[in-house]
Amino acid sequence: MGFSYRKQHLFAEELECEAIAKEYGTPCYVYSRAAMEAALAEYHEALAGCEHLVCYAVKANSNLAVLDILARRGAGFDIVSVGELERVLAAGGDPAKVVFSGVVKRRDEMRRALEVGIHCFNIESEAELEVLQSVAADLKLRAPVSVRVNPDVDARTHPYISTGLRENKFGVATDAAMALLRRASTLPNIEVAGLDCHIGSQLVDMSPLLEALQQLLLMVDQLESEGISIRHLDLGGGIGVRYQDEEPPAVSDYIAAVRDALGDRDLCLVFEPGRSIVANAGVLLTEVRYTKETDAHSFALVDAAMNDFIRPALYQAWVNIQAVAPCKAEPRVWDIVGPVCETGDFLGKDRELALDSGTLLAIHGAGAYGFVMSSNYNTRPRAAEVMIDGMSSHLIRERENIEDLLRGEHRLPE
Ligand code: LLP
Repeated sequence: MGFSYRKQHLFAEELECEAIAKEYGTPCYVYSRAAMEAALAEYHEALAGCEHLVCYAVKANSNLAVLDILARRGAGFDIVSVGELERVLAAGGDPAKVVFSGVVKRRDEMRRALEVGIHCFNIESEAELEVLQSVAADLKLRAPVSVRVNPDVDARTHPYISTGLRENKFGVATDAAMALLRRASTLPNIEVAGLDCHIGSQLVDMSPLLEALQQLLLMVDQLESEGISIRHLDLGGGIGVRYQDEEPPAVSDYIAAVRDALGDRDLCLVFEPGRSIVANAGVLLTEVRYTKETDAHSFALVDAAMNDFIRPALYQAWVNIQAVAPCKAEPRVWDIVGPVCETGDFLGKDRELALDSGTLLAIHGAGAYGFVMSSNYNTRPRAAEVMIDGMSSHLIRERENIEDLLRGEHRLPE
C-alpha cells in the first residue's frame, strides 16, 4: 500500500518517485496519504463495536498535513509537549481526544492542556501529580488523569527504545501506582480516569504487551473493589513494522487478543500507535552524488546524511535501500554514506545495489522517526517533505535554506 515498484520504477501512489525527486529535489521525504489512512483504519476496524480512541503518537511524524489527514479520519493524539499540542490544534485535531504523556510536563504545559480540555494526563510520578493538582486548582478545573504503570516486562527491543523495565525512567511500579491512584482519588482537582502503559517501540512479539495488560487488569479489578472506578485502559503504542524480515503481529490479531483478555469489563480502550501508522507510509529520496572505491569498501556518497535520518547511526537500525529506477551499472556491494563528517554517518552498509553517480535511492520505512529526528548538524538545511495523494503531490514542508538556519543567531556587539 502506498509505495510499489512497477517495472522496477518506484511509485508513490500514482506518481513516479523519479518525477517527485525532480520536482522537489533531494533529499526529500515522500509520504503516502492512502498508506497512512489504511494503517489507521486497521486499528479502527479491529476496535469496531468497542468504545475506543486511537491516539496517534505525534512524535513519530508531526507534520501538520500528517496530523490533519489522521484527524479527519477520527484519530486522537498522544502528545509529549505543548509544542505537539499546538501542532494538533493547528492541524484541526480534537483536544478532547488528546492524551498527554511524558515524564516532565511543565506547569505552563499542564495549564494549556487543561484550558483546551484534553482527554487525559498520563502521570509518571507522584511529584507530577501534585503539581497537576495545584495547576488545576488555580484554574478551578478538574484534571483527568491516568497513571502510567511500569510493569517491569522486557519488551525485547533495542535498549534505547525499551521503556517498561524497572530500571527505565518511565512510569510507576505497580504497587506505587496503586498508591498513587488512591492518592489521586482523594485530590479535589483530580479525576481518576484510567491506567496506561507503554513498554517500548518496534515490538515484534506481542507477549510482553499481553503480559503488561494482565497486570493492568489485576489493578483495575483491585481498584474497582476499593470503589475507584477506571474508565479507560491505554495500552500505549509499540507494535513493530517490517523493515527487513521482522514478523510483527498484525494489528488485528493484537487487538483481538486484547479484547479477549478484557472479558466483560466495560472499559474504553486507548492505543497510542506511532510507527505502525506512518513508518511504511514514507520514504526518503536521496541521490548518489559520487562513488568512491577504497581497498576496503565501495562507498556510495549520497546527499542525505545522519542529520536527515539518524536511525541507522543511533540504533544501528537496518532500513531497506533501493534504487528508484533500474541502473545499467553492475550490481556490487556498497556502503551508503552521507556528507556529514563522522564515520557514524551511514544509511546502510554492505548493500548489493546497481548504482552510479546520479542514481536516485529510496530509503524505505522512513515515515516514522525520520524527519522528526532530523537536525541541522553541519549546518545542513532540513529536507523537504511531500505528501502524495493519488495523482497529486503536495509540498507539506519547504526545504530549509541557509537564512532559516541563521535566523535568531546574533554576533556580539562591536
Ligand atoms: N506512547 C508513548 C508514551 C511513547 O513513548 C511512544 C514512543 C509511543 C506511544 C509510540 O510508539 P510506537 O507505536 O511508535 O512504537 N525514535 C525511536 C522510537 C522512539 C519511541 C518513543 N516512544 C526509533 O526511531 O526507533
